[in-house]
Amino acid sequence: MTDTTTQRKILVTSALPYANGAIHLGHMVEHIQTDIWVRFQKQRGHECIYVCADDAHGTAIMLRAEQLGVSAEEQIAAVNRDHQADFKDFLIEYDNYHSTHSSENQALSSSIYLALKEGGKIAERNITQAFDPEKQLFLADRYVKGSCPKCKAEDQYGDNCEVCSATYTPMDLINPKSVISGATPIAKESKHLFFKLPEFTEFLREWTRAGHLQPEVANKLAEWLDAGLQEWDISRDAPYFGFEIPGEKDKYFYVWLDAPIGYMASFKHLCDRRDDLDFDAYWGKDSSHELYHFIGKDIVNFHALFWPAMLSEAGYRTPTKVCVHGFLTVDGKKMSKSRGTFVNARTYLEHLDPEYLRYYFATKLTGSVDDLDLNTEDFVQRVNSDLVGKLVNLASRTAGFVKKAGGTLSANIADAELWQKFVDANTLIAELYEAREYSKAMREVMALADAANEYIAAQAPWSLAKEEGNEQKVLDICSLGINCFRVLMTYLKPVLPKTAAAAEAFLNIELNWPQSFEFLGEHHINKFKALMTRIEGEKVQAMIEASKEEAAAHSKTTEANEASADSWLAKEPVAEEIEFNDFAKVDLRVALIANAEHVEGADKLLRLTLDLGGETRNVFAGIKNAYKPEDLIGKHTVMVANLKPRKMKFGMSEGMVLAAGPGKKDIYILEPNEGAQPGMRVM
Ligand code: MSP
Ligand code: ZN
Repeated sequence: MTDTTTQRKILVTSALPYANGAIHLGHMVEHIQTDIWVRFQKQRGHECIYVCADDAHGTAIMLRAEQLGVSAEEQIAAVNRDHQADFKDFLIEYDNYHSTHSSENQALSSSIYLALKEGGKIAERNITQAFDPEKQLFLADRYVKGSCPKCKAEDQYGDNCEVCSATYTPMDLINPKSVISGATPIAKESKHLFFKLPEFTEFLREWTRAGHLQPEVANKLAEWLDAGLQEWDISRDAPYFGFEIPGEKDKYFYVWLDAPIGYMASFKHLCDRRDDLDFDAYWGKDSSHELYHFIGKDIVNFHALFWPAMLSEAGYRTPTKVCVHGFLTVDGKKMSKSRGTFVNARTYLEHLDPEYLRYYFATKLTGSVDDLDLNTEDFVQRVNSDLVGKLVNLASRTAGFVKKAGGTLSANIADAELWQKFVDANTLIAELYEAREYSKAMREVMALADAANEYIAAQAPWSLAKEEGNEQKVLDICSLGINCFRVLMTYLKPVLPKTAAAAEAFLNIELNWPQSFEFLGEHHINKFKALMTRIEGEKVQAMIEASKEEAAAHSKTTEANEASADSWLAKEPVAEEIEFNDFAKVDLRVALIANAEHVEGADKLLRLTLDLGGETRNVFAGIKNAYKPEDLIGKHTVMVANLKPRKMKFGMSEGMVLAAGPGKKDIYILEPNEGAQPGMRVM
């Protein structure tokens, strides 16, 4: 422990991303904000546990899986893998990443629900909803479209009109249609369960004013409390992907009931594997440990009204703080698919270093709910000027002189005033991190970097070194430079963990955050290696272009046929055991690729003409990202010859070629050894 104050015990969460889509830079605002805070607490020596999970339930996920032709379980498993890979590559370090579709969550959700019921806080009544007679499915408002009953604007959702702002129910629409099947919905009655939120009004009036929330959030909630709370519908009828409600038939918990319980479940899952963590010590009613939720401003009601009410009724502690952040805009506008500013985390990572974004977001994040902008020009300029021009430069221009003098730092403090500035900034910078005022913290750190660089520039060790007799002076100046760099890197370690690790190797010391910094003298340092390179503006442009292409491709892949071809290659299937007889049914054959060509209007597909030794087949394969057609012609590959022909948007596909790889450019068709002849059976 490097902090001599008492050790805090803190459980931290980021909101659970939905399992029906990819992680994008908007999500990254939140996970970077949280990760910086957690790393800061850990660096200060506190016990800080960071958990998250995928939010796996709901109609959207059920429909998405259906569209892709996989089970919901398979779909959420594939998405979970992608989400975790994205976060890991952004250096987000959870102690646990789980799923709301877990046994821990089912047990906790059921027991919390039963406690609410026991306490008389669950009501039952019948409601009438739009029902899709073809899909046999109740339709949420956004799954019904039609013309506005007031202004007659076409193609409006079932809850309100985007043209005249009228509000209504789906069945009020003129000519309503189910978005899912196109059928005309009917009105149908069914029993629903409600959480009696109004009974918690007094409790919530107090709770929302007790220091758990930012003032602007508390004010917003006061407006809602004044307007009067409504009972909250927590049940959904089958079919629904979720947990069945105990004691009911064909009724499921609404996804938002079990989602926040997913925080507890992820922690429980961790506790079950770690002897040093005690679930009740963190969640018990009288816990003195801290609980922090980081969320976006769109989900405040769930976290600051429903959640504390549920927890208190079920006998658990309530959050210490709900920390609300604003939304990400790009170049001053809402993220947009067509402009290429709706950037997925993976697309960013394919072009740029995650630490650039971590730093840039840090320079933008505050403790308020204000939106923040990723300005693509400012991004390049800021990162290059601050991190490369100031931070790394300080080390690179001084390290060589220390190395030349034998690699051991001097204990003489060449400029006591400058050093004291670095020592004194400690408390303020720590307070700013604690208060999530990262933007201010970064400004303090960069002001120190400026001061150190000005000092080095004024002393010009490179000029002094030209004359003999200045050796000690040069070493003293550069040793101070390296000491300043060490303090800066310590302050930036929560934001730049990878660079900090490289700096630790160079400085030959661990960058803990002490109560007070001691000057490092008579300390041996290692060879300096470039810590970070400049961002090239073209890379940002390339990322935007790639995002545009993905958006265009995606809007087409939602058309079922191409989507299934696409997903077969892009997603690792979750393999189920099969019988030998099932396997024997697959007729695998060597095929000669007689021709390969682009398919007009398809982003992923190539049309292959396969020669099976006499017989030819037409097959569409989703390998356009990986192969130029001309490179395929004349190759041998392996195909499933007895796959039932499928009608696709572009024509009949009469088989399937086998390929391996993670997807995109990395797909490799299987090529049998020389000697294999078209038509041969593969065994
Ligand atoms: N699944 C729910 C949360 C359940 S928590 C018990 C959900 N998922 S989400 O994927 O839509 O959003 C996850 C988080 O990302 C939310 O906190 C949301 O505010 C945040 N953001 C989503 N888009 C965002 C931006 N464009 N900008 C900043 N944060 C954004 O809501
Ligand atoms: Zn209207």
